[in-house]
Amino acid sequence: MDSRDRLVFALDVPDGHAALRLVRLLAGEVGTFKVGLELFCAEGPALVREVSQRGGAVFLDLKLHDIPATVGRAVSRALAGGGVRWLTVHTGGGRQMLEAAVREAGTGAGILGVTVLTSLNEAGAVEAGLSPPLGNLVVRRAALAVDCGCAGVVASPQEAGAIRRVVGPGPLIVTPGIRPPGAAAGDQQRTSTPAEAIAAGADVVVVGRPIRDASDPVAAARGIRSAIEEALGGAV
Ligand code: C5P
Repeated sequence: MDSRDRLVFALDVPDGHAALRLVRLLAGEVGTFKVGLELFCAEGPALVREVSQRGGAVFLDLKLHDIPATVGRAVSRALAGGGVRWLTVHTGGGRQMLEAAVREAGTGAGILGVTVLTSLNEAGAVEAGLSPPLGNLVVRRAALAVDCGCAGVVASPQEAGAIRRVVGPGPLIVTPGIRPPGAAAGDQQRTSTPAEAIAAGADVVVVGRPIRDASDPVAAARGIRSAIEEALGGAV
């Protein structure tokens, strides 16, 4: 996996026009573009096809969470047009739901399990009926996702090390909440630099605003790739 494949750019823009402009601009530096709920609700599967036709693979971040039969059918429909590299489901749906997602994806895309939303703090988790500490729940759900055949998990860089120790070297750990040194944190609470995330065991970093809002997005993406390559000691 080279550094272009290790960098996902989050297409956090309101419509397909803005998204495709960024795909055209960044496809040389970024291998995969994340389409989240906002953009998918606005533009649907047609946008996934258009991104892939412009040379980018799609990380479809839908965080599916429903009964196994419904999730299985949704996975099948979401992947029908091709072009999706990874699709997220929520590990809170449990074993049968995760297995249904993996079964329906087949070789069409890797299923990534979302463990616990990083927007949830300990107090919010307790209020929602989850047992603290959250770190234990994250690791436990990551292990479940891998046991069910998921290609990997999405987690905060702070959780990457603990997850890696439990799941071993094979599964992918994909980390958002990335800020290059000196970049504005925005609403992210606990950030790591690209180098810190890779050193902690992440395989892939998801970056949105530090690239989107840069005066030169291509240079920003290139800088992140260099940091990834340095953190891997040139072994890319
Ligand atoms: O702009 P920024 O780099 O913060 O964007 C990060 C992207 O990763 C956003 O699309 C955000 O929704 C997503 N994400 C996240 N934290 C999670 C899961 C997804 O920041 N736990």
